[in-house]
Amino acid sequence: MGKVILGIETSCDETAVSLVEDGRKVLISLLSSQVDLHRIYGGVVPEIASRRHLELIFPLLDEAFRNFPKEKIAAVAVTYGPGLVGALLVGLSVAKSLSYALNVPLIGVNHMEGHIFANFLEDAKPVFPALVLVVSGGHTDLIFMRGFGDYELLGETIDDAAGECFDKVGRVLNLPYPAGPVIDRLSKKGKPIYKFPVARLKEEGYNFSFSGLKTAVRVFREKNPDAKVEDIAASFQEALVRALVENTEKALRDYKPAKLYLAGGVAANSKLREEFLNLGKTYNIPVHFPSLQYCTDNAAMIAAAGYHRYLLGKFAPLNLNAYPSLMLGEERY
Ligand code: KG4
Ligand code: ZN
Repeated sequence: MGKVILGIETSCDETAVSLVEDGRKVLISLLSSQVDLHRIYGGVVPEIASRRHLELIFPLLDEAFRNFPKEKIAAVAVTYGPGLVGALLVGLSVAKSLSYALNVPLIGVNHMEGHIFANFLEDAKPVFPALVLVVSGGHTDLIFMRGFGDYELLGETIDDAAGECFDKVGRVLNLPYPAGPVIDRLSKKGKPIYKFPVARLKEEGYNFSFSGLKTAVRVFREKNPDAKVEDIAASFQEALVRALVENTEKALRDYKPAKLYLAGGVAANSKLREEFLNLGKTYNIPVHFPSLQYCTDNAAMIAAAGYHRYLLGKFAPLNLNAYPSLMLGEERY
């Protein structure tokens, strides 16, 4: 038996617990989603999320330890940022208690690094340097990754994140939260016949901007109430994915990475996955993205990133705090 890391994730609206052996073999990955609870508000309500995490986490831990004795875990890895502070604190408190009670190391994991490591749960051949596009509800980051733990941020969004844009456009189109998967599904039944503008930033570099696109869809919808929602969805998705792919392609040409990775909730998007595969073919480089269940928030990715820190001996003290704005590569212990 290798080293089994317990992963705990409570940074937003998913309560998740996982046991992963040697950073790759997922023994169990459990998730209690709160999306139904937040849907009536059209987004995550932080205070409700914290309270719900507290109720959901213990049954998940009980279930995880039903088939695997907790005395055998090698360490506890927990998300300590970025995220909602109250939500993060629930996972942190539980992780600290377990680490103390079982006398095993506590490891703090950056949520965004977790998203990147979702790739290494399944990618048998990680190759570096790599170009990684991390697209989630809170982030749109283009990263040049020289190795595990070595990240250079090439570009980021200057306004809305890609997932946030999906969710806001969803509200304009009266779709349920989170709208990303719904727009993805609707797009398959529609045609991208409307040309929505994609912001091209004047400055050099690889930053993104999505607030103009969101506004363009809202104005179009107001002026064209009879346009088919499937066609609007497909046109919006086409424009957003194009913006993501254009910047990625620019960085591909400039940095010539050996591999291309996609990570985060929006990495579940079928159009984006298809376009990344096309990029791989055009530039003749391997492409990898996580399977769907590991794109959106989960704890297996936290255990995988935790295993890497475990090997480096990066153990956190029991007074580890939560950092809502923790940056990728930033170390707070
Ligand atoms: O990574 P994630 O689960 O949570 C954060 O860390 O933010 O990402 C959630 C985001 C939401 O905005 C959701 O709408 C979006 O990912 N999303 C998608 C798809 N599945 C989830 N966006 C586009 N297409 C999808 N299939
Ligand atoms: Zn996430």
